[in-house]
Amino acid sequence: MSTVVSYADSIEKTLFTREEIASAIARLASEIAADFAGRPVFFIGVLKGARHVPADLVRALSSVPGGPSELRIDYMAVSSYGNANRSSGEVRMLKDTTENIAGKNVVIIEDIVDNGLTLAYLQGLLREREPAVLKSCVLFDKPYNRTVDVHVDYIGLTAPDAFVVGYGLDYQEAYRNLPFLAQLHSWVFS
Ligand code: PRP
Repeated sequence: MSTVVSYADSIEKTLFTREEIASAIARLASEIAADFAGRPVFFIGVLKGARHVPADLVRALSSVPGGPSELRIDYMAVSSYGNANRSSGEVRMLKDTTENIAGKNVVIIEDIVDNGLTLAYLQGLLREREPAVLKSCVLFDKPYNRTVDVHVDYIGLTAPDAFVVGYGLDYQEAYRNLPFLAQLHSWVFS
C-alpha cells in the first residue's frame, strides 16, 4: 500500500502571509511610482516564478497617485533550477521579450534573488540592448548565498535562508499557486 502525502502536510511553516506580501507590493509600487512619476515604464516579468508579482504590482500602482505616465508589461522566461532545489549554476533563456527595449525605462520584476546568477544574467543581457534606465525589483531577497555581486533597486521582503515556495515559486513545479510564502519540511527533498 502506498503512502499518500498531502500537499498541506509537506509545508513546515508560513514565512510571509498573503497580507504581508500585499503590503510589501504596495510599498514597492509607491517606490516605483515616486521614481518614475510622469514617465513611461516598461516592466519585464521573469517567468515562471514571477508570474504573480508584475500582475499584482501593476494593479497596486494603479491606485498610487502621481505614478508613471504609461505602464507596459512584457515577459521573459529563464530557468536555472529545473526540478532541483539547488541552482544548476547555468541560466537558460527559454523565452525572450517580444518588444524592443532600446531607450525605454525598464524595470526587471523578479520573484526572488538568491545566488544572484539569474538577475545578473538578465541585467547583463538587457543592458546590452541600451534601455534609457534599467532597474531591478525583487519581491523576496535571500542575501545569504550570493555567488555574484548584483544590485537590486527595489526589495520587498527578506526571506530566511531556506528553500521557499509559494506565490509563484515552485518545487518540482508544485506550490506556485500558494498565495503565501512557505518553507517545506526537509523530508520533501530526501
Ligand atoms: C528561480 C526564480 C529566480 C531565480 C533566482 O527561477 O524564479 O528567477 O530562481 O535564483 P538565483 O538568484 O539563485 O539565480 P528558476 O530557475 O527556479 O525558474 P522558474 O522561475 O521557472 O521557477
